[in-house]
Amino acid sequence: MEGKEATQASQFLRRALQLAWKGRGAVSPNPLVGAVLVKNGRIIGEGLHRNYGGKHAEAWAIEDALKKGHSIEGADLYCTLEPCCFTGPEKHQPPCTDLILRNRIARVFVCTVDPNPRVRGRGIQILQDAGVEVTVGILASEALALNEGFFTYQIMKRPFVHLKIAQSIDGRIAALEGDSRWITDEKARRMVHRLRATYDAVLVGKNTVQLDDPELTVRLVKGRNPYRVVLDTHLELPLSSKVFRTKDPERTILITTTQSVSLERSSIEKDPLEAKRKALEDLGVRVLSVPPSPTRPSLSVVLHRLGDLGIRSVLVEGGASLFTSFLRENLFDRISFFIAPMVIGKGIEGIGDLGIRRIADHLRFDRMSFHRVGNQIMLDGYRSGFYEELYQMATLPLLANSKPIIANPFPPSSGKTPETSFTNGRNLLPLGLGR
Ligand SMILES: NC(=O)c1ccc[n+]([C@@H]2O[C@H](COP(=O)([O-])OP(=O)(O)OC[C@H]3O[C@@H](n4cnc5c(N)ncnc54)[C@H](OP(=O)(O)O)[C@@H]3O)[C@@H](O)[C@H]2O)c1
Repeated sequence: MEGKEATQASQFLRRALQLAWKGRGAVSPNPLVGAVLVKNGRIIGEGLHRNYGGKHAEAWAIEDALKKGHSIEGADLYCTLEPCCFTGPEKHQPPCTDLILRNRIARVFVCTVDPNPRVRGRGIQILQDAGVEVTVGILASEALALNEGFFTYQIMKRPFVHLKIAQSIDGRIAALEGDSRWITDEKARRMVHRLRATYDAVLVGKNTVQLDDPELTVRLVKGRNPYRVVLDTHLELPLSSKVFRTKDPERTILITTTQSVSLERSSIEKDPLEAKRKALEDLGVRVLSVPPSPTRPSLSVVLHRLGDLGIRSVLVEGGASLFTSFLRENLFDRISFFIAPMVIGKGIEGIGDLGIRRIADHLRFDRMSFHRVGNQIMLDGYRSGFYEELYQMATLPLLANSKPIIANPFPPSSGKTPETSFTNGRNLLPLGLGR
């Protein structure tokens, strides 16, 4: 597809992406999806997936058009994600492919394939087999950015992991005595609260709770609180910690190792760890035991357990040991440094030993961007190859398809020549980043 038609398709899909973004914080573990119906070059109906388990964007767009008195037959549907095509006991809505065919929609444009193994190209195939023209791949990159958590989980079976590090110019995240308040200014903290509101969970290590006693809630902007996840191998944190005393303690998850809890002694009175666990649970906190690796909770198991709870995206907020563990194990997808205009000298370094001994073995990031946020520079990037990995796996069935239905192939890997951009941070969160 080229020229005017391609430009128009991009405009309508961009509108669908904007609609989808409005559902942030409300639909996970479902994906954010937006849809617009177009007839004679004009939008006749709009819709978005508004809440988990609720009506799909395609159904809302059709309902919107009908309410406004439009006939849908022969219309074009622009949707950010491939329409679903299955029913199941855990699925709340009927297949959108049926709805599209019943309403005699002529053409369908989608940004990407739905990576859910129960769809992955089948929705497109059903529509094509019924004579609907389907175009895939326009604004694919933006659509992936919209649903990083959903795509990561469907393909890698673990949540999307974003490391957020606030540091001085010389790479310190705290002064020598552990004090890190406040390295960044109010504007950067507001940005972090905006980020929190779009993530399913924030995760920190025991020492951060001990030293900073953070609430890990969304306060500086409007938005819902994510789950708060704390890694505390031996259940040592005091019950008075703010993370255990929030208004919604059921959204705090404490991760410990199975070894911490004695299985032989069933009597809670005789076992201080069991007593502590019980006290935490009495506060409403969820305590999860995971196997140690070698002595601390295994991060890959932690992520899988969080995924089982419906968590699709995790913002790791520190401290240094956790940043180091996630980087060492290559269990991260995105990393953001908020670099404040200060030098601390001797202090706590944000990232410890990664086992790298030669420059050639350095960790590299893709899709780097730089933003000015208040007095900070925010440096943002992705694990090398992350986006290409997602896209290729999400479109594998299509590559085998004889019909040339991918409109714009995803931009080639930026691994060798990372894209960089410099912005003032205005458009930072949702779209328009050019990622
Ligand atoms: N500027 C920033 O962005 C920022 C953000 C957060 C914190 N901080 C600062 O960072 C400092 C704390 O950093 P930190 O490195 O001492 O502690 P941390 O990363 O907050 O917590 C580390 C502790 O978590 C526990 N843990 C459990 N499972 C783990 C795993 N898989 N990997 C690593 N740790 C695991 C370990 O204690 P147990 O095994 O005993 O449970 C470990 O000692 C504080 O000064 C805080 O103010 C700065």
